[in-house]
Amino acid sequence: MTLILGLESSCDETAAALVDSDRRILAHRVAGQEADHAPYGGVVPEIAARAHVDRLAPIVAGVLADAGVTLADIDAVAATAGPGLIGGVMVGLVTGKALAHAANKPLIAVNHLEGHALSPRLADPALEFPYLLLLVSGGHCQLLLVKGVGDYRRLATTIDDAAGEAFDKTAKLLGLGYPGGPAVERVARNGNPHAVPLPRPLVGSAEPHFSFAGLKSAVARASASGIHSVPDLAASFQQAVVDCLLDRSRIALAACPEARAFVVAGGVAANGAIRDALTDLAAHFGKPFVAPPLWLCTDNGAMIAWAGAERFAAGLTDDLGVAARPRWPLDPEAEAVRGAGVKA
Ligand code: KG4
Ligand code: ZN
Repeated sequence: MTLILGLESSCDETAAALVDSDRRILAHRVAGQEADHAPYGGVVPEIAARAHVDRLAPIVAGVLADAGVTLADIDAVAATAGPGLIGGVMVGLVTGKALAHAANKPLIAVNHLEGHALSPRLADPALEFPYLLLLVSGGHCQLLLVKGVGDYRRLATTIDDAAGEAFDKTAKLLGLGYPGGPAVERVARNGNPHAVPLPRPLVGSAEPHFSFAGLKSAVARASASGIHSVPDLAASFQQAVVDCLLDRSRIALAACPEARAFVVAGGVAANGAIRDALTDLAAHFGKPFVAPPLWLCTDNGAMIAWAGAERFAAGLTDDLGVAARPRWPLDPEAEAVRGAGVKA
């Protein structure tokens, strides 16, 4: 049994957790920064980095105290080393290096996307490789065949915005505040998903990728027309996102008969309408559908600790000289896609 301390600071959650190789989560703490960024309607990188500096050390002390252990009891320190907002990533990685050095333990530099990709295995011991993963968050929208630890095939990514980004931008333009996803979902419950005609970018195209920027602009135009209510706009937008995710996932499922399960992860996986639609799609393909509990879907330290545990078991540790990476694709062989806003 090994015990891993995991640190996460790549976006606007400061988080740490202690997870062991038997999938026990001994302690986890997450501090969001919603109040810090709310006045700006989105995450401000410099504010995020400074908040991580203030909050990470007490959070690490807190999880050690919660679990009743000291640094001497852990086997390795895992820290997100990218991709993400570089200032924040550096805070977590440097903290991880310092703790590893001080305690004389190995460091594991974790790709944040690998944290999301492997987190379903923390929640579900029966989930075996390979599985098809739809990773939908504020920064990413990808379909990945997860073949093993450190072994990923990227089937699709977004050519512009990520799905969560589209939710956040739509919420902003509808005046629903930040973070946008939960606000849009709440308001959409009172709206008609078929009231506003909106495009489904790339649906029906043989190109496997995602695109959401045009959808967001269409919501802006529909909103400006003054014809539609905010609930109808929110519900129709959410339905368009559902239809895009389903269409792209269908292509990927058809291309990966070897996948043993269809898995969703990332903050957008918290959306009930999206979860329901993906559940039906998995059933249609005869695959088990796996979605981690909601707290494990949004950014957290446990997914980084667990990815660290999986890498440690595979003998993968890193030098203290390892660099933070703003961009870090999980699949280095993946073809470049058109579009300027590609995140990884
Ligand atoms: O995985 P995550 O916590 O951070 C990133 O790595 O990006 O995902 C955050 C994203 C935000 O864009 C947020 O608006 C979205 O997930 N989100 C949702 C919901 N809850 C969070 N989107 C749609 N519906 C939700 N209920
Ligand atoms: Zn994330």
